[in-house]
Amino acid sequence: MTAAPLLLSLLSVISASEALYKRWIPDTNFENASNWKERRVPCGPDAAVFPGDQRVSVFVQSSHALTDLYMPWDGEFLLSHGAGFMAASPQDPGCGEGSSVHFQDVDRHHWFDPSLWRSALSTDDLEMGRFLFAVDAESVPCCYDDVVFSPETSFRVHIQETGSDVSLSSVSALGKKFTSSEDFSRYLTSPSGKLQFPGPAQPQITSLRCQDGTGCLCGNDGILQAICAARLQYTGGKCPETACAAPLQPAGQCCAICGVVISLDYSSAFSLETYRRRLLHTFLSLKKYSSIKLAISKVRSPASANRADAELKIQIVLMDEKDGSLAGSDALLLAYDIMADIDTTGGSFGIIKADMKVATGGLTSPHTGPLSAGAVSGIVIGTVIGLSLIGAFYFLYKMDNYRLRHLEFFLFWRNGSRMEETESMDDRGFDNPIFEPTAQNNQAEVHVEDNSQKAARPATEFHFSNPAFDSSSDL
Ligand SMILES: *[C@@H]1O[C@H](CO)[C@@H](O)[C@H](O)[C@H]1NC(C)=O
Repeated sequence: MTAAPLLLSLLSVISASEALYKRWIPDTNFENASNWKERRVPCGPDAAVFPGDQRVSVFVQSSHALTDLYMPWDGEFLLSHGAGFMAASPQDPGCGEGSSVHFQDVDRHHWFDPSLWRSALSTDDLEMGRFLFAVDAESVPCCYDDVVFSPETSFRVHIQETGSDVSLSSVSALGKKFTSSEDFSRYLTSPSGKLQFPGPAQPQITSLRCQDGTGCLCGNDGILQAICAARLQYTGGKCPETACAAPLQPAGQCCAICGVVISLDYSSAFSLETYRRRLLHTFLSLKKYSSIKLAISKVRSPASANRADAELKIQIVLMDEKDGSLAGSDALLLAYDIMADIDTTGGSFGIIKADMKVATGGLTSPHTGPLSAGAVSGIVIGTVIGLSLIGAFYFLYKMDNYRLRHLEFFLFWRNGSRMEETESMDDRGFDNPIFEPTAQNNQAEVHVEDNSQKAARPATEFHFSNPAFDSSSDL
C-alpha cells in the first residue's frame, strides 16, 4: 500500500541533480613554500618579511623560530593548536646562513581564473584528487555549486565587479559551512572575512539546488568575459595555437580546441548525473583513456545562444594530451566508443540524438606545429588531388533513423547514415591524413570545402572511416 508513495518520493529525490564541489587551490598558509618568493619557508636565522602595504590572513600550522618577523600593514595570523612564533636561538643547524624571506604578493589571485579551481562530485573526491574536468566557464563555481576553501588554510580571493552576481549554493571556509546569505554576510564583515574576500564584489549564497534531473545551466554566461580575461592573463589575452587546422569551439570554453564535441538531444528521462557516472565508470576508468579530459554539462546550443528560447543540449567535450598530428586522436577513439554505446543503450538513458564534431591534428609529417587558415586550403587542394583524407568532420547521428553497424569499437558510416554539413562545418572542411581514404567505398562522396568558395554550396554528404582501424575489413 505504501509502496507507490515511497517510490514517488524516491524518484523525486533522484530527479534532483547533485551539486558539484569546487575547491579554491591557492592558499596563504605560512608553511606553503610556494607562498614565499624564495620558495622556502623561513627558519631560524631568517627574517620573515610580509610586504608592508598588503593585507593578509595567514594560517600558521606549527611553531616557528625566527630571527625577525616583519608584519604586514593589516593582517592576521590564524594559529593552529600549538602554532606560534618565537625568537630563534643563535644556532639553528640545518637552516643555513639566514636571509630575508619574502611573502608573495597576496593580491594576485582572482575568483574568475578557471585554473585556480578544482571540481569534484563530492568533498571526498576533492580530498582524494578525483577531479572532474570542465570547460572554462564551468571550472569557476556555478550557481548551484558548493565552494570549498580547505579547512586549515587561509586565502585571499579578489572578485571583480562584472555586473552579474556571483551566486553559489554554499561556501565552506576555515572548516565552517555557510548555507545562508545572512550567516555569510556576517562572516564577510568579520576581520577574517574582510581579509579573505576583499571584493569589490561579494558572492551571494542562495542554498539553491538544481531541481532538474536532466541538469541545470551553470549560469556563468554573464561572466564568461571576465573568466576568459583571467584565463588568458598570462598570454596577453591570446589563445594558444592549436595543432589541428580547424579547432572546435565548445560552449563555455575560452579558446578553440582539438578533440571532439558531442552534443546530445535528451528527453525528460535523461539524468545528467547518471550519464556522467556511466561515462566515467565505463570509459574514463579504462587505462587507455586515463589521460583524456572529459567535460559534460548542459549548455545553450551555440547556434541559438543569443536567443531567449535557446536550445539546450548536453555537451560532451573530449580532449587529450597528444600533440601535433596526433592531437585529438585519443579523444576521437573515445568518442567512437561513446557513440557506439549511445547507439546500443542511448535510448534507455533518455538520449534522443547524438551529434559529433571532431578536430584532430594536422599532417602526419613533415609539417608539425599549428596550421594557419591559409595552410588549410592548401591541404584541401592536396586532398582533392587524391591524397589523404578528411580530418575535421561533422555528422548527424540519428538513432531513430538507423543503426550504425559497428564491429567492436569500430564504426563505419554507410548508406543509412547521414552526414550533414551545416554552416559551422563550412569553416571546418580540411583534410586529415590520419584518415585512410575509403577508395573502395563508392558511396563515399568526399566533400572538401575551400573556404573561399563556400558561399552557395549545398549541404553535402560524405563518408569516412575510423582512422584507427582498418576500414577495408568492413567493405
Ligand atoms: C601551496 O600553494 C600552491 C599554490 O598556491 C598550491 O598549489 C599547493 O597545493 C599548496 N601546497 C600545499 C601543501 O598545500
